[in-house]
Amino acid sequence: MRAIIPAALLATVNAVHLTPNQLNTVWEHAVRMSNFSWENGTIGETWLEWKYPHLSVFSSTAPLPLPDLTPDQVPEIMQLAEDTLANRPVNFTNPALPTNISATGANASSTSEGGLRRRQTPTSVPVPTASTSTATSSTPLLVPLAANSQLPHGQPLLEDGAAGDPASLGVTVLVADKASSGTLIKGVSFMQAAQSQVDYLLYGVPRNEQGAISHRAATFQLWADNVYMVPPFLAYFGAITNNQTLLQTAFDQISAYRQGLQDPETKLWRHMSPGPEAEDPNLWATGNAWAAAGILRVLATIKRSQFAEGMGDQVTQLQVWAAEILGASKEYMTHDGLLRNYINNASDFVDAAATALMASAGLRMATLNLTNDHVDAATKMLAGASRNVNSTGYLTNVTDPYSFHQPGTVSPEGNAFVVLGYAAYNDWEKMGKPGNTRGKDPLSGAGRAGASLVGVLLAVGVGVAAM
Ligand SMILES: *[C@@H]1O[C@H](CO)[C@@H](O)[C@H](O)[C@H]1NC(C)=O
Ligand SMILES: *[C@@H]1O[C@H](CO)[C@@H](O)[C@H](O)[C@H]1NC(C)=O
Ligand SMILES: *[C@@H]1O[C@H](CO)[C@@H](O)[C@H](O)[C@H]1NC(C)=O
Ligand SMILES: *[C@@H]1O[C@H](CO)[C@@H](O)[C@H](O)[C@H]1NC(C)=O
Ligand SMILES: *[C@@H]1O[C@H](CO)[C@@H](O)[C@H](O)[C@H]1NC(C)=O
Ligand SMILES: *[C@@H]1O[C@H](CO)[C@@H](O)[C@H](O)[C@H]1NC(C)=O
Ligand SMILES: *[C@@H]1O[C@H](CO)[C@@H](O)[C@H](O)[C@H]1NC(C)=O
Ligand SMILES: *[C@@H]1O[C@H](CO)[C@@H](O)[C@H](O)[C@H]1NC(C)=O
Ligand SMILES: *[C@@H]1O[C@H](CO)[C@@H](O)[C@H](O)[C@H]1NC(C)=O
Ligand SMILES: *[C@@H]1O[C@H](CO)[C@@H](O)[C@H](O)[C@H]1NC(C)=O
Repeated sequence: MRAIIPAALLATVNAVHLTPNQLNTVWEHAVRMSNFSWENGTIGETWLEWKYPHLSVFSSTAPLPLPDLTPDQVPEIMQLAEDTLANRPVNFTNPALPTNISATGANASSTSEGGLRRRQTPTSVPVPTASTSTATSSTPLLVPLAANSQLPHGQPLLEDGAAGDPASLGVTVLVADKASSGTLIKGVSFMQAAQSQVDYLLYGVPRNEQGAISHRAATFQLWADNVYMVPPFLAYFGAITNNQTLLQTAFDQISAYRQGLQDPETKLWRHMSPGPEAEDPNLWATGNAWAAAGILRVLATIKRSQFAEGMGDQVTQLQVWAAEILGASKEYMTHDGLLRNYINNASDFVDAAATALMASAGLRMATLNLTNDHVDAATKMLAGASRNVNSTGYLTNVTDPYSFHQPGTVSPEGNAFVVLGYAAYNDWEKMGKPGNTRGKDPLSGAGRAGASLVGVLLAVGVGVAAM
């Protein structure tokens, strides 16, 4: 099919494989722009997959727990973990507990906003389509377990209206713990801060009847984003403390979130369950990508743990759940390999950020030796996202990460997702590109006109080299 198009023209239009230099620039922007808890958590995860793949849960060689490290082996992880503990709230007051109870047991002064404002609540959201209007209602249990028990209340790593987002930094903090000899920051070690974050999630956050831990701190609500922030941390904590219960809890959380958010018709996930603080019953691309990528991190963590053998059923189930999202998403992909902000809305704007994260999930299915079924769509998506990296290294055509129903100009997480996509791609390439059907360089094939300046400049080089 492609043979009838002159090779030079094809290259001019399509070459989109970002170079190491371009990726460094994309990554520098991501690191510099990130500050919110979930952004920093994503940065930590990306450092591990991109710069320290042998320490990532996707490594095929490193069992968990990791061997001891020295700080100079992981300087960026140390810096991020130290900054996190330096920003950790003092005298945290849990907004879901009665006011006379605080995490420290002391009667803390009233909660400050902590300077962290989560994504804005939209004043209006698009009308749900027929297939998304059947949101399941499960009774939220507003009072966390710790309220009426002796269980530790714990506290999050950072003050945040989202209960789930600060936990995204948990793996970073735990890797830093491996490289520190019990260093205390504001009186707390990395391990103590991580343990307190686990306690907070398990006992200090509202749940529903299915046991799902709320993504919000003050009220009960499910957000698909949570699957990338919380279960991977709980699983990792379980793997390094030899605690199978926590690995199982990570699995159970994904199960409960899927039960609460999955649209039965498309198999894609809604962004949020009904809740008083925000509203979005639609099939948000980023939410689905967070979920698919989070599911695969938990799957990988179980496989790396000493409990892998006894948890084969969970691994199989997680693979099915990730495949549901990937399989459904690719049906809606544009000719350019992009996902729309609300995946099933053919008139919505495209979001190259979610597309890049979804691409990484598809390629991880292959690097985990699960299946190559998603390689084709994933490489097409990564090419599509790459084409939207502009000449100064910013991913464009993105959703506004702080106001999810509208387009944005810049996306810190989006820039990180591109790097996660290439981290997965590089691991897949090292395996010999199993399942590849898209030519020698699958990122420079397919797609249509509309190449970015980078794409064109790159293509000139590729085209000349090819001749
Ligand atoms: C996010 O990370 C950067 C770099 O480590 C740090 O300067 C910033 O304070 C962090 N943000 C929060 C809220 O901790
Ligand atoms: C995938 O299979 C290859 C070949 O058997 C093996 O070398 C590699 O370690 C496996 N990867 C993972 C993540 O298990
Ligand atoms: C935290 O609470 C303790 C005990 O109530 C109090 O002594 C301390 O000053 C508080 N610290 C901050 C930073 O508010
Ligand atoms: C907190 O207040 C509730 C209701 O006012 C009361 O029943 C409970 O005993 C109090 N707990 C503590 C630790 O003072
Ligand atoms: C704790 O502080 C709150 C708010 O200042 C106050 O209403 C409450 O009575 C205090 N409770 C205790 C047990 O001191
Ligand atoms: C980063 O987050 C911290 C903690 O919430 C906040 O104080 C600071 O203003 C933020 N920095 C930027 C540049 O937004
Ligand atoms: C596993 O972690 C849970 C939650 O922190 C804890 O209650 C339990 O005692 C731990 N089990 C083991 C064997 O350490
Ligand atoms: C689809 O997206 C368009 C553009 O954002 C919007 O105007 C429309 O309301 C959306 N349709 C549905 C059914 O959500
Ligand atoms: C990407 O953004 C550019 C500039 O805003 C726009 O011209 C182009 O149509 C967008 N591409 C797609 C596929 O929406
Ligand atoms: C690339 O995109 C960023 C973010 O939208 C923008 O600030 C920058 O000006 C763009 N670069 C070029 C060369 O258009």
